Amino acid sequence: MKSFQLNGLKVFYQIPYSHSVNLPGGIGFARMYEEVLTEQVDTLYEFCSGPAFIGFYFLSKGICENLILSDINPLAIECVLKTIEYNDLGDKVEVWMSDGFKHIPYKVNADLIISNPPHHKKIYDGCRELLHVDLNWKLHKNYYENVHRFLSYGGKSIWIENSAKGKPDGRYEGEGSTKDDFIPMIEKNKNIEYVGSENCSFDEKYYFLETRRVR
Ligand SMILES: C[S@@+](CC[C@H](N)C(=O)[O-])C[C@H]1O[C@@H](n2cnc3c(N)ncnc32)[C@H](O)[C@@H]1O
Repeated sequence: MKSFQLNGLKVFYQIPYSHSVNLPGGIGFARMYEEVLTEQVDTLYEFCSGPAFIGFYFLSKGICENLILSDINPLAIECVLKTIEYNDLGDKVEVWMSDGFKHIPYKVNADLIISNPPHHKKIYDGCRELLHVDLNWKLHKNYYENVHRFLSYGGKSIWIENSAKGKPDGRYEGEGSTKDDFIPMIEKNKNIEYVGSENCSFDEKYYFLETRRVR
């Protein structure tokens, strides 16, 4: 297993994950989130965390006191458990292996949920399915149907999505998304509301999508 020193924390990772500070690497996405994660929260939840570069980055910077992580990939969970053990974070960080929210107990509650999820709804040449493809947006649908159960009242969800400039390039990326793919899913759930979307200044093909729990 490889590791990367992140503001005093040693974060473990392994293939297929990359710590790269450039996009599309784990630290690259964490730096991108700095544009929108400016206020401190008590509990931050990184959904589809992989080895959790983003979550551990914000924990190490004191933006959150506690961190919840989940992912379906056992290789990611193995990395996170090693990071928790090595850095003695057992009282601050909890991790769940789960398909979407399916295996997350309802007692799990966060003030802010972030995610860099799979960004494409169809399989494409060169994709790594688990990392890149959310077939027909099944995972996104599961998320927006259930997210209020895991958010405190007024709590927010801010996800990174990828427009891929609206075009598949056939080489690295498949067709991307637009906010209109997700707004109808959000509007179906009366416990949450769509707040807005904003392009990332790092790389404008990425955008943030913000939702809030209203009841
Ligand atoms: C684009 S990667 C992002 C990983 C990490 N957040 C990062 O930025 O390095 C997407 C992650 O979503 C996870 N994932 C894919 N399908 C999932 C599902 N149904 N439930 C939970 N996690 C899933 C993958 O295992 C992968 O770790």
